Amino acid sequence: MNFRPTKRHRIYEGKAKVLFEGPEPGTLVQYFKDDATAFNNKKKGTIVGKGVLNNRISEYLMMKLTEIGVPTHFMRRLNMREQLIRKVEIIPLEVVIRNIAAGSLAKRLGIEEGTQLPRSIVEFYYKKDELNDPMVTDEHITAFGWASPYEIEEIMQLSLRINDYLSGLFLGIGLRLVDFKLEFGRLWNHEEMRIVLADEISPDNCRLWDVQTNEKMDKDRFRQDLGKVEEAYQEVARRLGILAENPTSTDTQVQYFQSEKTDK
Ligand code: TMP
Ligand code: ASP
Repeated sequence: MNFRPTKRHRIYEGKAKVLFEGPEPGTLVQYFKDDATAFNNKKKGTIVGKGVLNNRISEYLMMKLTEIGVPTHFMRRLNMREQLIRKVEIIPLEVVIRNIAAGSLAKRLGIEEGTQLPRSIVEFYYKKDELNDPMVTDEHITAFGWASPYEIEEIMQLSLRINDYLSGLFLGIGLRLVDFKLEFGRLWNHEEMRIVLADEISPDNCRLWDVQTNEKMDKDRFRQDLGKVEEAYQEVARRLGILAENPTSTDTQVQYFQSEKTDK
C-alpha cells in the first residue's frame, strides 16, 4: 500500500516526514510516514499507523497551543497523513525541555531515570545528523549565527510556556510529560519576523509515562524494544479524545486505513 502522493514537488524527506510544495505560495504539505528510526538512524523500523496517529495528535496539540496564543506553522489537516503548514525558515536547533530525568540526561549526568528535576531544563542541540546532533550552548548558537540572542530568548520563553501548558494537558489524561523536543522556525511577513513552533509534537518526540503505572507510552517502546508500540500511540490518541472510545487495536487500524483510502 502506498498512500504517498507522487504529483506534487517533493521538497525534503526526513526520517519520519516528507515535505511537499503546498497549494499556495508560502505553504507546504507535511506528510507523516510510518517509518521509525532511533539512535540517529542506526535502528530502523515501521510502526504501523504511526503517521496517521501523529498527524492527528500533532494537529490537536498545535491547535490547542494556538488557542493559548503560541504561534505555530500549523494551518489545517488535509487528510489522514497530511497537513498544510506555513513554510518557515527552520532554525537548526533541537530544543529539548525536560521535567523528569530520562534518556540522555539521566545517562550523561548519572541521575536515576524518573527523578524529578529541580526545575524544567531547556537544552539545545545542533540539528545535524552527520554530527549526531551535538549539544550546544547559547555561545555556539550566537557565535555561529544559528540564532540571535533575541531569538534564543523568544525560543526559551515559548518552550517554557508550551511545557507548562502541555504538562497540564497530559496530566489531565493521566500522562506525565517527562521530556520532549521542539523545533522552531522564522516566519516572515514583509519586514517583520516571528518565531513560530514548527515540526510536530507527538509520541515520536515526547516521553510520556502513565501516571499510575509509569508505563512508557512513547517512542521509547520502539527504541528499547518494549513491544506494543502501535498500541501506545493509539492509547495516547484515545486519551486525548481523538480516537473512538475503546476500539480494539485492529478495529482502529481498519477504521483509519478505510478512511485513509477515501480521503484521497
Ligand atoms: P534524549 O533523552 O535522547 O536526549 O531525548 C530527549 C527528548 O527529545 C525525548 O523526548 C526524545 C526527543 N528526541 C527527539 O525527538 N529527537 C532526537 O533526535 C532526540 C535525540 C531526542
Ligand atoms: N534520534 C532520534 C530518536 O531517537 C531518531 C533518529 O535520530 O534516528 O528519536
